[in-house]
Amino acid sequence: MSSTDTLQRPLRDLRISVTDRCNFRCRYCMPAEIFDKNYSFLPREEILRFGEIETLARSFVSLGVRKLRLTGGEPLMRRDLDVLVGKLAAIEGVDDIAMTTNGSLLARNAQKLADAGLHRVTVSLDSLDNAIFGKMNGVGAKADRVIEGIDAALAAGLGVKLNAVVQKGINESELLPLAQFAYERNISIRYIEFMDTGNTNGWKHEEVVPSQKVLELLQESFPLVSVADAAIGETARRYHIEGRAGFEVGFISSVTKPFCRDCNRIRLSADGHLYTCLFAQSGYDIKSSLREGETPEQLMSRISSLWGVRDDRYSELRSEGMAPVAKKEMSYLGG
Ligand code: GTP
Ligand code: 5AD
Ligand code: SF4
Ligand code: SF4
Repeated sequence: MSSTDTLQRPLRDLRISVTDRCNFRCRYCMPAEIFDKNYSFLPREEILRFGEIETLARSFVSLGVRKLRLTGGEPLMRRDLDVLVGKLAAIEGVDDIAMTTNGSLLARNAQKLADAGLHRVTVSLDSLDNAIFGKMNGVGAKADRVIEGIDAALAAGLGVKLNAVVQKGINESELLPLAQFAYERNISIRYIEFMDTGNTNGWKHEEVVPSQKVLELLQESFPLVSVADAAIGETARRYHIEGRAGFEVGFISSVTKPFCRDCNRIRLSADGHLYTCLFAQSGYDIKSSLREGETPEQLMSRISSLWGVRDDRYSELRSEGMAPVAKKEMSYLGG
């Protein structure tokens, strides 16, 4: 069975979207005027059950996947998520189980998730200021609540990273305070360039703040040194401070420095479609194969064939001037 794609990239990282719903309406992801009460979210029967996710995850792990990440939408909108974590943690061969979350429901769930076998969480936090944060998340949610979630995750022994999307003129004043927050807690923070995900976030190249500018801003306050040992396929370029293990600053620069060359990620949407790129226009319906009763070997063979023909490198093509294309929303296919 083929284990690398047409650009010789292995398959290592499975990102599992467990729901397309979210209790936030960040403008860059789910603008409130589009994702309103008339929006058609996935119907319940189309959504993969935990047992189905486990079956697929086992096939992926047999094919070489070592990292699992739960995402959404907001994964904690899915009831009893710790039960799924427990099923995934029982799969032999998995090195890392993480979850990307907005943190709003984390305080009450962190301990349960840690007990079930989750290793770490990546919490999205774009501002420490309640007013700016409330505007950015589109529903007036307070940063304080997310901070409680972060502290609960740390207390539960989970690894914690922060993700901050940088938006020109909106949260630039918050970038340094966020780094100071990460420094105090001795954790990693990654700054993400605003990306042209989906079709609804009104992305404009002029609204992207290049990571280099953010690095220069932070270097005025922190003696940041580049970290050499990047893992293959890692999204972020990382920096740290000598003598302060734990605190790291990373930059995810999909616009100014695409990182497709080593991309080893595949995404499973909540309704059981596989996407070999965050910017893919269509997915592969693995749920039908699963629900028709195909064996794990048959599923593996389908996944392997799909990966074998993969030639995705969207961010690089965008840099080379490719015209915009219709894409799937990130809240649907997983961040
Ligand atoms: P670690 O395993 O902790 O390094 O996390 P990660 O970077 O794989 O996952 P995380 O969910 O923290 O990703 C951070 C952000 O990077 C995502 O939310 C996306 O905004 C962006 N990102 C992740 N994967 C890709 C990708 O394959 N392509 C692009 N263009 N952006 C990505
Ligand atoms: N550009 C960059 N990052 C984004 N995210 C969501 N939409 C975008 C976008 N358009 C980030 C979120 C979260 C993760 C799931 O992806 O902030 O950290
Ligand atoms: Fe929800 Fe995360 Fe999208 Fe914000 S970025 S709307 S929190 S899924
Ligand atoms: Fe991978 Fe596609 Fe992102 Fe490039 S744009 S890093 S191929 S998911």
